[in-house]
Amino acid sequence: MTRCTKLAVFAAIFAIPTLALAHSGATGIVKKRMEVMKDVGAVMKELGAMVKGDANFDASTVARRAGDLKVHAAGMPALFPEGSIHGPSEALPQIWADFEEFSRIASDLESAAATLSGVTEAAALPAALGAAGKTCKACHSDYRKP
Ligand code: HEC
Repeated sequence: MTRCTKLAVFAAIFAIPTLALAHSGATGIVKKRMEVMKDVGAVMKELGAMVKGDANFDASTVARRAGDLKVHAAGMPALFPEGSIHGPSEALPQIWADFEEFSRIASDLESAAATLSGVTEAAALPAALGAAGKTCKACHSDYRKP
């Protein structure tokens, strides 16, 4: 195999999971924020498994994934430039009618993630994760298609 062909094969292999991540047809900023939201969902699932007892409590995983969550939350408002609803987007135009409120909920998630990242005992995890989870519902109920 020439070097070029090898690169093309690698590119093809690595492109597949990336495409599978976003809703089919999503492009640009919509695709990007869907990928961010997917990881946000993955963090909740991963830490939720510790709450349910399906995984062992591990403070370093909590700190690392809550850190990811915090970064995602801080970046959320910028992932919603005005009017960016296209393709399979489930965003509602109400986002831009109340952008301040929308951003405030993202910042609530950022603070909840900061608290979560400091959780060092299993007993404190349910409440801290629950507080983060409340912000998902608060935002989705007003700003995402049901
Ligand atoms: C500040 C508002 C806001 C917050 C906070 C928020 N989301 Fe979202 N989320 C949205 C919007 C809007 C969409 C739809 C985006 C689109 O389709 O263009 C979305 C979409 C999603 C999706 C679907 C992604 C896809 O592939 O279509 C998942 C999963 C998700 N959010 C999980 C979460 C979880 C879990 C939390 C809480 C930890 C959360 N979100 C917090 C606004 C928010």
